[in-house]
Amino acid sequence: MIDQIAQYIVTAGGKRIRPRLLLLFAEAFDFRGAARYELAAAVEFIHTATLLHDDVVDESSLRRGRSTANAIFGNAASVLVGDFLYSRAFQMMVSVDNMRVLDVLADATNTIAEGEVLQLMNMHDPDLAVEEYLRVIRFKTAKLFEASARLGAILGGADPAVEEACATYGRSLGTGFQLVDDLLDYEGKSDVLGKNVGDDLREGKPTLPLLIAMERGTDDERAVVRHSIEAGEVERLAEIVDIVRRTGAVDATRHAAEVEANKARASLSCLPDNPARTALLELCGRSVRRSS
Ligand code: IPE
Ligand code: IPE
Ligand code: MG
Ligand code: MG
Repeated sequence: MIDQIAQYIVTAGGKRIRPRLLLLFAEAFDFRGAARYELAAAVEFIHTATLLHDDVVDESSLRRGRSTANAIFGNAASVLVGDFLYSRAFQMMVSVDNMRVLDVLADATNTIAEGEVLQLMNMHDPDLAVEEYLRVIRFKTAKLFEASARLGAILGGADPAVEEACATYGRSLGTGFQLVDDLLDYEGKSDVLGKNVGDDLREGKPTLPLLIAMERGTDDERAVVRHSIEAGEVERLAEIVDIVRRTGAVDATRHAAEVEANKARASLSCLPDNPARTALLELCGRSVRRSS
């Protein structure tokens, strides 16, 4: 069953952006050892485990253009195989035999779990502060991007200040990445995205597009969005999408993602100029402009 479910989700693809970050940072510092593959795989395993768990928690039915594992194999199987992948990732990272590596990944996985729990507590709350929303996405998403970038720098023996700049790149890119993810839940096309749009609204997740729409909308618009968050009213998705567009919340969310991408770009100034750095720079634009 572990093979079957792991194969099912892994062969569906995915962008593999986190291992890519790790490998590019390692290569930017000219580290070519095999440990980089072990850690890149470990990071993607952790990500895969969080997706298996996340789709159970979010009751999602579509992922990577396929029915989710929970929809096909059930919640129990998804949770348990997620746990298996999670713990296998820890076996893999121990094999690298570097205490800093363990420190970074233990910290990251704990923060991701905290972020998911915080998000659960924020469900159906239309009065959520933007700062609080940002904290959740930094924890649940940006932290693993940060860890991936940092691990590449650690493998490459970067100085502490340079390692911090790499971590900042990952954190900013990851924050922008989740901002776009939250935007695509309203603006995206399900067949391109490989996920259902409107999942966040169905769950009453107060994400930035909705928070901005409430801030900028008329009294009526605000009331509609508020009620939809409280009730998880996915039936009114089309109306909400309209309000999100009309109030400029789409552009404002995209702009917030661009600001993060620019921060990421700026933090690369301390890297040596090489093809890996160029690829990392390109990733900033692509992760904001993406539609899947
Ligand atoms: C999905 O991550 C979960 C988020 C943090 C938004 P990705 O968009 O990287 O998912 P895959 O791996 O490409 O499917
Ligand atoms: C990202 O949040 C989840 C994790 C970081 C585990 P979402 O719930 O928005 O991710 P998708 O949209 O389901 O991929
Ligand atoms: Mg989800
Ligand atoms: Mg999402």
